[in-house]
Amino acid sequence: MATNTVIIGAQWGDEGKGKIIDVLAAEADVVVRYQGGGNAGHTVEVGAKRFVLHHIPCGILRPRKMCVIGNGVVVDPIALVQEIRDLESRGVWSEGRLWVSDRAHVVFPYHRALDESLEGSCGRERRIGTTKRGIGPSYGDKAMRCGLRVADLLEPDFAALYGERIAEKNRILKARGAEPFDAEDLIEKAKKAATFLRPFVADTVSMLNEAVAAGRTILFEGAQGTLLDIDFGTYPFVTSSNATVGGACTGTGLAPRHIGRVVGVVKAYTTRVGEGPFPTELVDETGQALGREGNEFGATTGRPRRCGWFDAVAARYSRMVNGLDWLAVTKLDVLDSFETVRICVAYQSGTERYETMPASSRILAECRPVYEDWPGWRASTRGVARYQDLPQRARDYVERLCELTGAPLGMLSVGPGRDNTLRIGV
Ligand code: GDP
Ligand code: IMO
Ligand code: MG
Repeated sequence: MATNTVIIGAQWGDEGKGKIIDVLAAEADVVVRYQGGGNAGHTVEVGAKRFVLHHIPCGILRPRKMCVIGNGVVVDPIALVQEIRDLESRGVWSEGRLWVSDRAHVVFPYHRALDESLEGSCGRERRIGTTKRGIGPSYGDKAMRCGLRVADLLEPDFAALYGERIAEKNRILKARGAEPFDAEDLIEKAKKAATFLRPFVADTVSMLNEAVAAGRTILFEGAQGTLLDIDFGTYPFVTSSNATVGGACTGTGLAPRHIGRVVGVVKAYTTRVGEGPFPTELVDETGQALGREGNEFGATTGRPRRCGWFDAVAARYSRMVNGLDWLAVTKLDVLDSFETVRICVAYQSGTERYETMPASSRILAECRPVYEDWPGWRASTRGVARYQDLPQRARDYVERLCELTGAPLGMLSVGPGRDNTLRIGV
């Protein structure tokens, strides 16, 4: 029997989770997103078609899979309607197999406006470089217990509930010098989206538990990455949810006993989009070459991603906090042309050597990577179908990444397509 699997980004996001989820979704019955929201951008290439999913689980691209937006996700109803419609226009139908948790919190236009205004008003050193999708303000309301949930969208007194919040947020926006919203217009738009979404809304907590009881296999689709996790990431330069394995339980209502294995996705190098410390970042020609070869532009915002060498300190930490069973290493092909490839094995700050992530972003910003150098393989790995057919040097490099991380290699990706995926004993 297949195993319930959690897919975790083990770096700073954009590791290629979408692609790995798409491959593993073939063996699952249900794919569930458990945290984050429209800040995610998960790319899946199916033949010549390229899809970027923000709210909807990647399983939607596999016929007959049930897809769930769990209670831990923050849902922007207007953006979700658009996403469903965009998929429809490309022949992918969601109705009857996409379910949105009635307990999920809602992202409203004022959350986006507040996100934008907060980012715009702070100095460079405080700025997070968010996706401006309203994620922080929406999770903030959830924690402050003044948010509205998907169930509220469908309540008869929704207009009154929403109207109160709009008035309150308008006061804050005005005080910040931002444009207030027209309440009637917002209510109208939210009601329209709610009417469209009504058939998708369900008690997904019960649904998922019933699916497990019936022996169906669950794939948990993590968004963002471990170093962006609100608790374990490079705080405050993080997102506002638990991208690590604990989020899979709190964001779905499935108990830990239902998790069979945890898979960490890592790029064969490192990228980060947005602000915050990034010890292996390369601000030189090599960094630009990584960005060019890897086509490193944000799938949600189009921003260029910062690039650097593989950081085994971060990956090892990620293995520890998530209890990773194995690794899916992606984008190995991006390194094909490099003469030397480097792996960061520790950090150094003054006389201090760090083998694990320091809690403080200020300290991390002062850390310099300690590198190990590996000779490049300078041959194409794109489309190689069997692990043993890869150049020896490429295999040595990948095996070293896994050894330093402390988790075995399970999958290796050598191109964006479904077929460019090698499975190693899993
Ligand atoms: P996610 O957020 O973790 O799902 O990752 P993104 O979709 O934001 O970014 C990953 C990018 O790398 C996408 O454009 C993928 O199509 C692409 N990709 C995934 N795996 C590979 C690979 O093995 N090689 C190459 N060259 N591209 C890949
Ligand atoms: P996927 O799921 C990479 C980053 C933002 C910013 C920080 C906070 O595609 O891997 P937020 O909008 O969440 O408040 O931004 O987190 N970020 C991501 N970086 N991939 C993502 O998602 C991200 N989602 C958020 O750039 O630094
Ligand atoms: Mg992404």
